[in-house]
Amino acid sequence: MKITKAVIPAAGLGTRVLPATKSMPKEMFPIVDKPAIQYIVEEAVQAGITDILIITNRGKGIIEDHFDRSPELEKALDKPDKQEILEVVKNISKLANVTFIRQIETKGLGHAILRAKNFVGNEPFAVMYGDDVIVGDDPAVGQLIRAYGEFGKGVVGVKLVPESEIHKYGSLKVENLHDNIFKCTDMVEKPQTREEVLSCYSILGRCVLPPDVFELLEKTEPGKNGEIQLTDAMKKIATSEGMTAVEYTGTRYDMGNKLGLLQASVEVGINHPEIGDGFKKYLKEFVKTLD
Ligand code: UTP
Repeated sequence: MKITKAVIPAAGLGTRVLPATKSMPKEMFPIVDKPAIQYIVEEAVQAGITDILIITNRGKGIIEDHFDRSPELEKALDKPDKQEILEVVKNISKLANVTFIRQIETKGLGHAILRAKNFVGNEPFAVMYGDDVIVGDDPAVGQLIRAYGEFGKGVVGVKLVPESEIHKYGSLKVENLHDNIFKCTDMVEKPQTREEVLSCYSILGRCVLPPDVFELLEKTEPGKNGEIQLTDAMKKIATSEGMTAVEYTGTRYDMGNKLGLLQASVEVGINHPEIGDGFKKYLKEFVKTLD
């Protein structure tokens, strides 16, 4: 079945990057000249997604404005020497059929995804975390969609995380199927003891889920931090019918963490067609001043 819908949860409070997120959604933080969430929408579109639901909350209206037309700005840019940037601005609203819904209370990622039940209907769909930008030649979500086509099971996008950091992430029980594809039969959110750690593979930023996940989420009690955890519902799928894990190619930047923000700006910056060369030159000089 062709997967054409994606849900982007973007209703988190972003407490790890306060005070910037007090009134500015982290999903709108720029990487050079484009907000994080536009990279994510573009990744979805490259993978064949046509319909996107972004889950927002109070104070995140500027995400909606970004994907809307901007008549005043467009009028101001409609000059012979501004045609290129005018097209860039206009094209944002044509990327995909983007709609929005609010998560009225911030009760966790699982609770946010539940808001997408009517939008999704009875089809498998992609989930793309709004603060995880993945840069690469082959869109990460497309790699997961291909794995869904191959095995017909829910898919999680994974990466290896350092053992010392695994307590901050989810840990998966995996078995290699071929290449970078694994069978996933169990998972635990934020393991606190060594015994709880199943592997250093963790879900990072992307999944493709069957519509049955909504029924499971409806029955999921608040878990870690008193939030409804998506991992708790996915664990039920992994331990019953099993899931597929894809160690996707591409570099992931966590826009919800201070170091991630800086890494994204530096690494995307050095490859930027307009300022890349100049930035690289500056960086080389700057690095020499470090001890
Ligand atoms: P995170 O845990 O990374 O985001 O959730 P957060 O809650 O904003 O983080 P901190 O700890 O306060 O800094 C992963 C994704 O789920 C969304 C977030 O916006 C992010 O894209 N999310 C999280 C929701 O949409 N609703 C929630 O209730 C929680």
